[in-house]
Amino acid sequence: MHSFNKKVFLVGMPGSGKSTLGQELAESLHVEFFDLDHEIERVEQKSIPEIFELHGEEYFRKVESDNLQRLADFKSGRGLIIATGGGTPCFMGNMKIMNQTGIAIFLDVSLHTLTERLMATDLSSRPKFGDDKGLIDRLQHMHSERIPDYNKATFTIKGDDTSLDDLIKVIESA
Ligand code: S3P
Repeated sequence: MHSFNKKVFLVGMPGSGKSTLGQELAESLHVEFFDLDHEIERVEQKSIPEIFELHGEEYFRKVESDNLQRLADFKSGRGLIIATGGGTPCFMGNMKIMNQTGIAIFLDVSLHTLTERLMATDLSSRPKFGDDKGLIDRLQHMHSERIPDYNKATFTIKGDDTSLDDLIKVIESA
């Protein structure tokens, strides 16, 4: 794929591989990669847990949407890969921003795999989870609440071991 110039937004639950796959995709297409959470941390000069703790979720969602809009408006003349946060599609018309300015892809990973992956990470850095007690219930609840918004993405890739090739195929078809 030469001179790739589209914006790709990866959406999905925490642990669905948005950042890892996004980075690999950007490298392979020779375009810039942005992780929305990292952008928020850079702009706010605070970690995500600190933002939640100091200002609350409502403030976080506002900053999240502002930064998403900034990246959506960013005109580099080149492609851009953006990994969003797990909750991004569910607030402030963010799905519309993504679908209108680029290609939104939902990484639809099974609850079983999400649970396994999240159990292996430091949950204290994820304000929506806290600790591993009741993680499965919380994940299940979050998943069923969020699925209608994730399904607004123009594309979905279902599976627990999505490869770079799978992603590239979808993008080429867009
Ligand atoms: C959140 C997911 C996080 C981060 C914030 C809120 C959520 O991103 O944006 O902690 O509401 O699911 P990841 O999906 O990268 O963990």
